[in-house]
Amino acid sequence: MTLTRTFEFSMPMEGIVFGIGTALTTGARTARLGASKVMLMTDRLVRGAGLIDPIERSLRDAHISVEVWDDVVTEPTFPAVAAAVEFCRGGGFDTIVAVGGGSTLDSAKATACLVGNGGTFMDWVDGSRIATQKPGPRLILLATTSGTGADMTRGAGAIDPTTGVKHWLRSRYRSHLTICDPELTRSAPPHVTAATGTDALTQAIESYTNRSHNPLADALNLEAVRLVGRYLRRAVANGDDMEARAAMMYAASVLVGLGFGNAGLHIVHPVSQIVGDRYRIPHGLSLGLLLPYLLEFGLNGCIDKLCDIARALEVPIDGLSPRDGAQRAIDAVRQLLADVGTFRPLREFGATEAELNRLAEDFARRPPEVTGAALAPRPVRTAAELSAVFRRALGTYAAAEVSPALATRGSG
Ligand SMILES: [Fe+2]
Repeated sequence: MTLTRTFEFSMPMEGIVFGIGTALTTGARTARLGASKVMLMTDRLVRGAGLIDPIERSLRDAHISVEVWDDVVTEPTFPAVAAAVEFCRGGGFDTIVAVGGGSTLDSAKATACLVGNGGTFMDWVDGSRIATQKPGPRLILLATTSGTGADMTRGAGAIDPTTGVKHWLRSRYRSHLTICDPELTRSAPPHVTAATGTDALTQAIESYTNRSHNPLADALNLEAVRLVGRYLRRAVANGDDMEARAAMMYAASVLVGLGFGNAGLHIVHPVSQIVGDRYRIPHGLSLGLLLPYLLEFGLNGCIDKLCDIARALEVPIDGLSPRDGAQRAIDAVRQLLADVGTFRPLREFGATEAELNRLAEDFARRPPEVTGAALAPRPVRTAAELSAVFRRALGTYAAAEVSPALATRGSG
């Protein structure tokens, strides 16, 4: 590590609150920030699970006027965001409190930006006007899954319904306050815990192995790898294991959310997105089935960092060559993903070699700023390189690659 080079790091303006039961303090904390009229954003599933009522009560107990907006949809589209913007403007809210997964938190971030600045979602995608951005309503974010880190990051994704392509709005501001209450993740079913935990692990490794210079983010991402390695299996096996749930929320939101939210990612997310979009594979799952292969693709560019990941995953590598130590890290990642059911052959999702070759060609034609090329330990330079990765991901498992746990795994 060198500390003679410049790096920058930012986080939620009024900080982070972490702890079991802290969601119940939302009202008092929101009032202390000066809020008087709150739009409480969520989706119907989260509301139906009973997670909103106690937070709404805590806001009312703090003498704050509240209206619930539960029309957030999974994978929000431009019109869905526009509807939230209209509701927020019409209600004259000074604060948005959002409770949910990545889709809800992204919808809230986009809504705050568009209410504060006007224009359309696409006006804020290329980042050229970011310096002129004004803050919108205050944002207070509470995640109900341990995965995306969207409660810490500045970007917000939404889909253009005419093309099906997901775009990312760039905001100048993070949340005012992020409240991480592991109790909110207790009811997430095992396949959601596995997929979101896979997202957290991927973001931590993808950020740690990229070529950005950010030693603070490196420390956070590596600690997140250690915690996910130690606790993800437990959180998937038993959702009431609150020690595991708390460790996963700390890893996914506090550590990785700030880690990758400051240091960026590289090719794993862009490649997985093109595959996930084509075959409608949920985000975390699309990452799990490609991560080991994309790490092998980039191995030569980040051998020492992969050795750090092996150590974080408590894999003994003393006495091995750095190259073999790096491979052990990837093997351990593959095993972890297989154990929780997110390392699966692409064939299961209807993928064919011909169609994947077409996706590889499409990816290779994209401009480098959307393919992660600038930060990748090994950028994808040709379609043939990516087709070779896809061919491996398409196939069945080699028997030696998986644990017995895979033979009895459920549907996801
Ligand atoms: Fe992600």
